[in-house]
Amino acid sequence: MNLALDVAHVAANFGQFRALNDISLSLEAGETLALVGANGAGKSTFLKILCGLVDSWQGTVNINGTPLKPGSPRQSSELGLALVPEGRLLFESLTVRENLMIGQTARSGPWSLEAIERLFPVLKERRNARPRELSGGQQQMVAIGRALASNPQILLFDEISLGLSPAVVREVYDALKAVRKEGVTLVIVDQDISRVCNVSENVACFFKGTVTHYGPAAGMTAAALHEAYFGGRT
Ligand SMILES: Nc1ncnc2c1ncn2[C@@H]1O[C@H](COP(=O)(O)OP(=O)(O)OP(=O)(O)O)[C@@H](O)[C@H]1O
Ligand SMILES: [Mg+2]
Repeated sequence: MNLALDVAHVAANFGQFRALNDISLSLEAGETLALVGANGAGKSTFLKILCGLVDSWQGTVNINGTPLKPGSPRQSSELGLALVPEGRLLFESLTVRENLMIGQTARSGPWSLEAIERLFPVLKERRNARPRELSGGQQQMVAIGRALASNPQILLFDEISLGLSPAVVREVYDALKAVRKEGVTLVIVDQDISRVCNVSENVACFFKGTVTHYGPAAGMTAAALHEAYFGGRT
């Protein structure tokens, strides 16, 4: 059986600066990976590569057995990838409903607009509001809903809980359970390592562009994590 996501020896430069070096990891369909690491470790760059937002990189990425081309957001979307970006990046001139509709693609699946509004009822109540009229938590729900609207097979979250209140973080993580139930493969970047590890099968820690720890999330001890986070190979 093909892996949902199979990454081998991926490297990326920004000019002379090597942002990622020899990244290899893989996810089975339906698996959740926690992606952690300090500032500048390369987490966002890695997610952007998967979404076709980095024009030049080396190595191979296979999505369900199909090789990913660098810098092709269209191909990434067609292969079922969707990103909930850091800072939401909503369309300010569009309403909540229109932001959700922007995410829709030709792919069908469980995430109709109605299903998304059932997941986050506030999106139905505020359907005609503009993003700037929403709280940060509501904006994050729109961003998640917009990504779900594409009925993704692999859903990527960058800084999923950044700037959100504890109550909203709980609501967002509760929603992930429903998303996982539909068999979606998840990669989640979160600064709160224990929280993200709690919902993940595996955890990868990046440090200065390399993988310093990769293994079952349940086996992640505080000592191993500390070492990986600050560059030690465990
Ligand atoms: N477009 C770019 N041009 C030049 N350098 C970049 C670019 N994007 C990222 N970098 C650099 O690549 C490195 C990795 O950045 P990246 O944003 O992927 O890290 P991160 O792990 O997401 O960090 P953070 O926790 O701060 O979000 C950093 O040193 C960053 O300055
Ligand atoms: Mg980042």
